[in-house]
Amino acid sequence: MTGTVLVTGATGTVGRHVVGALADRPGDVRVGVRDPEAAQSTLPDAADADVVEFDFEKPETWGPAVAGVDGLFLVRPPTVGDGDVAAFAEAADRAGVAHIAYLSTLGAEKNVLVPHHRIEKRVVATDAAHTLLRASFFMQNLLEVHRTDVVEHDEIFVPAGDGKTSFVDARDLGEIAAIVLTESGHENRAYDLTGPEALDYHEVASVFSDVLERSITYPRPSVLEFGARMRRRGTGLGFIVLMCGIYTTARLGLAGRVTGDSQRILGRRPRDMRAFVDAYADEFRADSETTTVS
Ligand SMILES: NC(=O)c1ccc[n+]([C@@H]2O[C@H](COP(=O)([O-])OP(=O)(O)OC[C@H]3O[C@@H](n4cnc5c(N)ncnc54)[C@H](OP(=O)(O)O)[C@@H]3O)[C@@H](O)[C@H]2O)c1
Repeated sequence: MTGTVLVTGATGTVGRHVVGALADRPGDVRVGVRDPEAAQSTLPDAADADVVEFDFEKPETWGPAVAGVDGLFLVRPPTVGDGDVAAFAEAADRAGVAHIAYLSTLGAEKNVLVPHHRIEKRVVATDAAHTLLRASFFMQNLLEVHRTDVVEHDEIFVPAGDGKTSFVDARDLGEIAAIVLTESGHENRAYDLTGPEALDYHEVASVFSDVLERSITYPRPSVLEFGARMRRRGTGLGFIVLMCGIYTTARLGLAGRVTGDSQRILGRRPRDMRAFVDAYADEFRADSETTTVS
C-alpha cells in the first residue's frame, strides 16, 4: 500500500527507525509527536516528513493527525493508558485509516494482564486491516536502561538468572513495520518478532567483551540486588518493578523462543547481538555520551 503513513511514538526506540525505514520507501510519512519543534531537531529522518502535533491524551489532536492517512504505526507509550491508545485506534479507523500496525509484545494474546492484550483486541475489532507486531525484548534496552552498568562497572546487571532471551534489534522492528505497512500480504496477521538467536546473559556479556575488547561480566544479581542498585541510581519504583517482572520471565526460561517471522518479512537474517554491540560500541565506552544510531 502506498499513501500516507502516520507514525506514533516516532521519537522512541522503535518509532524513530520506522520513520527512517519509511523514508526509503514509496509514499509519504507523517510523524505525530507531542512537540513538533523538538522532533524536527532530534529526528533527522523527519526532515522530509510532515511533522504534526499528536498526543494520545489530547483527543483534539487526533483528527488533524489522521486526516488523509492510509496506514498507522501505533505504539503504546509506557506512560499512557491502554484505553487512550485503543480509543485513538478506533478514531483512526472511523477517519478512514485502512491499516493499523500495532507494536505489541510476545505472548500478549495469552496474557490478559498486559495492556497490549486489551489494545490488540480493540485494534482487531476495528474495520481497518491490522498487523500485530509482537516483539521480543529489545537489544536497545541494554543501551537505554543498562548502559551505565557497562560503562562504569563493566557489567551487565540484570536479574535474569541463567534464562535465555530471544533479543530483537529495534532497527529491524522499524524496517519490519515499514514493510508491513507498505507492501501487501501482511493484513490481518500477527507476527512473533525475535532476533535470530536466544542468549543468556553470560553469553551476552561474552559478546560485549569480544566486541568492546575489555572484560564485561554478568554477576547474575538477585532481584533485590538489582532493585537496590537501580534505586540508588534514582530509578522510579514502578519502572523497577516492571523490569523485575520482565527479567523474571527470562529467569523462568519463558523468553527464549526464537521464531522465523522477522527473517521471513525482512528477507534476510535479523541482526544478532554482535551486530548490535558493534553498531553501538562507542556508546558503551566510558568517554561517550548516549547518541542514537540511525
Ligand atoms: N522494551 C522492550 O523490550 C519491548 C518489547 C516489546 C514491546 N515493547 C513495547 O514497546 C512500546 C514502547 O515502544 P518504544 O520503546 O519504541 O517507545 P519509547 O522509546 O518508550 O518511547 C515512547 C514514545 O511515545 C511518545 N509518547 C509518550 N507519551 C505520549 C503521548 N501522551 N502521546 C503521544 N506520544 C507519546 C514519546 O514521545 P515524546 O516523549 O518525544 O513526546 C516516544 O516517542 C511499549 O508499548 C512496550 O510495551 C517494548
